[in-house]
Amino acid sequence: MLRLLVASAAVFAGFLAVEVSAQLHSVAKSAGKLYFGTATDNPELTDTAYTAILHNASEFGQITAANSMKWDATEPSRGDFTFQNADVIAQLAKTDGQLLRGHNCVWHEQLPSWVSSGNFNAATLSSILTTHCSTLVGRYKGQTCVYSWDVVNEPFNDDGSFGTDVFLTTLNTSYIPTALNAASSADPNAKLYINDFNIESAGAKSTAMQTLIRSLKASKTPIHGVGLQFHMIVGEVPTQSVLIQNLQAFTALGIEVAITELDVRMTLPATSALLAQQQKDYTTIVGACAAVSGCVGITVWDFTDKFSWVPGAFAGQGEACPWDANLVKKPAYQGIIAGFKG
Ligand SMILES: *[C@@H]1O[C@H](CO)[C@@H](O)[C@H](O)[C@H]1NC(C)=O
Ligand SMILES: *[C@@H]1O[C@H](CO)[C@@H](O)[C@H](O)[C@H]1NC(C)=O
Repeated sequence: MLRLLVASAAVFAGFLAVEVSAQLHSVAKSAGKLYFGTATDNPELTDTAYTAILHNASEFGQITAANSMKWDATEPSRGDFTFQNADVIAQLAKTDGQLLRGHNCVWHEQLPSWVSSGNFNAATLSSILTTHCSTLVGRYKGQTCVYSWDVVNEPFNDDGSFGTDVFLTTLNTSYIPTALNAASSADPNAKLYINDFNIESAGAKSTAMQTLIRSLKASKTPIHGVGLQFHMIVGEVPTQSVLIQNLQAFTALGIEVAITELDVRMTLPATSALLAQQQKDYTTIVGACAAVSGCVGITVWDFTDKFSWVPGAFAGQGEACPWDANLVKKPAYQGIIAGFKG
C-alpha cells in the first residue's frame, strides 16, 4: 500500500513537473518549430521584471525590434544612419542566444518625410531604397542571431490592390524586387520575407500576396517567406482548418511562412468568459502553425499587456497578450502550450 502510494505520488509529481516546466519556446521546439518569439522595444528594457521574462530563452527563442529598425529610427535624414537602439536589440538577441527577425526595410508608415515628400525621380528613389535596405541589412550581416528580415512590410490594401505610397507612385511595383535584391546582396544568408495583415485566411488580400510571390519567383527574385501578422480579435478567429489551408496555399509556392505579430485583442473590460475564449483562440492559431511543416515559428507582438500596442491603436480594446499588465501568465499562455501539443 505504501509502495503504491509512493508510486502514484511519483507519477503525479512527474505529471506536474511536465505541466510546470512547459515554456513557450521549449514547447515550440518540441513541436518541430524553429522558435517562439516576441517583439520588444527599447524603452521597455529598463523594466527588470519584464526583461527577466524576455531573457528567458525557454520562453522566447526569437525577438523582433518593434520599432527601432524602422526607417524613421535608422535613417532619419538622408545618409544619416543611426543604429544605436537597433544595435541594443541585436545585441540582446546575441547575448540571450535568441534569433532575430529584422523589421523592416520598406514600409509606408514610420517613413521619414524626407523620403515620402522628397519629390525624387525614379532613379534617385530607387537608389535611396537600395542604400537604405543594404545598409540596414548589411549592418547585422553574418551575425549568427540573424534569421530573417521583413524586407517589405504591408504592401497591400485590404482589397488586394497595392497600397499607394511614394514607392508605388514613383517606382510602381519594381520597388519590391529592388528592396529584396538589395537585402539579398547585403546578407545572402538571411531569409527574406514580405509581411502583411489580413492575409490569415483566403480572400482578395491573401490571393494578391500569393500572386506577388509567384511573380517574384518567376523572375528569380530572392524571396523566402511570407509573414502573416495575426493581429486577431477574440471570438473572431477563423477555424483551424481555414487557417491551415491558407498557410498551405503559401507554402505550396515554395516558401516558408511565419506568424509574425500575434495578438488576440478583446473589447474591455476583460471577463473570465473573454479570457477563456482568448485561450481557445490562441490554441486555434498556434495549432494551425504546428500543423503546417513550412510554418517555422510564431512571434507575439510583445508578450505582456503592459506594453501592448493594442490600446493605443484600437480605442476600448486590449488585454491581447499572453501575460497580463502585471506580468502574470493568463489562460492564453496555456492556450499557446496546448496549440503546440496538439
Ligand atoms: C524561465 O522561466 C521558468 C518559469 O516560467 C523558470 O522555471 C525557468 O527557471 C526560467 N529560466 C531561466 C533561465 O530563467
Ligand atoms: C505597374 O506595374 C504593373 C505590373 O506590376 C503593370 O501592370 C502596370 O501597368 C504598371 N503601371 C504603370 C503606371 O506603369
